[in-house]
Amino acid sequence: MQIVMIGAGYVGLVSGACFSDFGHNVICVDKDEDRIAALRQARIPIFEPGLADLVERNVRAGRLSFTADASSAVPSADVVFLAVGTPSRRGDGFADLSFVYAAVREIVPLMADDGVIATKSTVPVGTGDEIERIVRELRPEASIAVVSNPEFLREGAAIDDFKRPDRIVIGTDDARARAVMGEVYRPLYLNAAPLVFVSRPTAEVTKYAANAFLATKITFINEIADLCEQVGANVSDVARGIGLDKRIGPKFLHAGPGYGGSCFPKDTLALVKSANDHGVAMRVVEAVVAVNDQRKRAMARKVVTACGGSVRGKRIAVLGLTFKPNTDDMREAPSLSIIRALQDGGALVHAHDPEGESQARELLSDVTYFSDAYSCADGADAIVIVTEWEAFRALDLSRLRALLRTPVLVDLRNVYPPDEVKRHGFTYVGVGRPADPTAYGQIGEGMGIAAE
Ligand SMILES: NC(=O)c1ccc[n+]([C@@H]2O[C@H](COP(=O)([O-])OP(=O)(O)OC[C@H]3O[C@@H](n4cnc5c(N)ncnc54)[C@H](O)[C@@H]3O)[C@@H](O)[C@H]2O)c1
Repeated sequence: MQIVMIGAGYVGLVSGACFSDFGHNVICVDKDEDRIAALRQARIPIFEPGLADLVERNVRAGRLSFTADASSAVPSADVVFLAVGTPSRRGDGFADLSFVYAAVREIVPLMADDGVIATKSTVPVGTGDEIERIVRELRPEASIAVVSNPEFLREGAAIDDFKRPDRIVIGTDDARARAVMGEVYRPLYLNAAPLVFVSRPTAEVTKYAANAFLATKITFINEIADLCEQVGANVSDVARGIGLDKRIGPKFLHAGPGYGGSCFPKDTLALVKSANDHGVAMRVVEAVVAVNDQRKRAMARKVVTACGGSVRGKRIAVLGLTFKPNTDDMREAPSLSIIRALQDGGALVHAHDPEGESQARELLSDVTYFSDAYSCADGADAIVIVTEWEAFRALDLSRLRALLRTPVLVDLRNVYPPDEVKRHGFTYVGVGRPADPTAYGQIGEGMGIAAE
């Protein structure tokens, strides 16, 4: 099949590369000419494990190419996917759909009469209807179909998620579009990934419901962690205790500094706003948004307390800046609020992240960056683990102890067993764990609670 992907960002580039790997011919279109120039020179503009090899292999096979010029790509496409951004609109939190509608107005005049538009961007319910209205306005004679095909991949594991999805949701009532989309995903269907055909509004709601539910699960365990801290319970054990219940499941029950990233913050907010527009109160999700917003600065207060009540003039070594490991994405990362709050308190922030430094430099000021954890910790008054990169899971604690001015480790991802850290002479502060862990059963890691 001939596939065109509009937008070559985290979703468009991964989806385009994976579709080409299935044997389809894919052209990725992005209006960012620098991005296209880089891709044409085999430079991948984002960090995503395995993506560079996948792109290179499929470019070499002649199935994947890149252009900034939609008019050279769109006319021959069977399906045009929209994978442009839908950020929060400044001021009111609604999804900003201007990129989506601009892209639609650009591609529709170029499309084949019987082409299919498939929206991968996360868009509020009703957006497909509006796209359809624009299509009928611009091409009243054509039978272009508009499908919702939300994307569920996770950055950091995006290729595997795309190739082995839990499900593929396709929203359309049009029999022809259904057949075309079935053909696009046939290689996955053969791998037994369920294709879930639903109506277009159902698909749109499904995406927001999935993200809001996951954000709720994270926020729920974070509040339970706060309770654990007050009563001497261990949130990792609680998470295991509830996660083994198949009705609950173990994933997304890892207490930490609050969710961030390019999706959950904007999608929870957009769900609340669009539901309100339809006269429906989303009180649970509203609470999730509020609790999560407050949590990030609360994590900075945890650091301040661990430093004896003040960070003024102190050097704080922050390990991990991206919103999660294995990505360079800094959008809405908890590190941003935590670092700003520490700076507000007078701290000097040293930081290291394996992949996020260049994006972080655009968003943070007055931070000194280091190329590894040890140089970052040298002379610091405390280490704060904000993102659980593999490289931070087995740090040499004796070496760190010798480098630090004061041996304080604030572990916002519960990576380390507290007793081990304390044995090395550290003051250890985790999330939702008792002050004296030996008093309460098993500790932390190896609990079978997968990090997401
Ligand atoms: N990032 C994720 O993990 C993820 C997962 C699932 C769904 N989504 C959704 O997918 C969508 C895209 O997210 P992303 O993270 O890939 O965004 P992104 O910002 O990384 O990429 C969007 C790209 O679209 C390009 N673009 C914008 N308008 C264009 C136009 N008219 N023509 C050509 N290119 C255009 C931009 O230049 C940019 O490169 C969003 O709606 C997001 O919510 C993202």
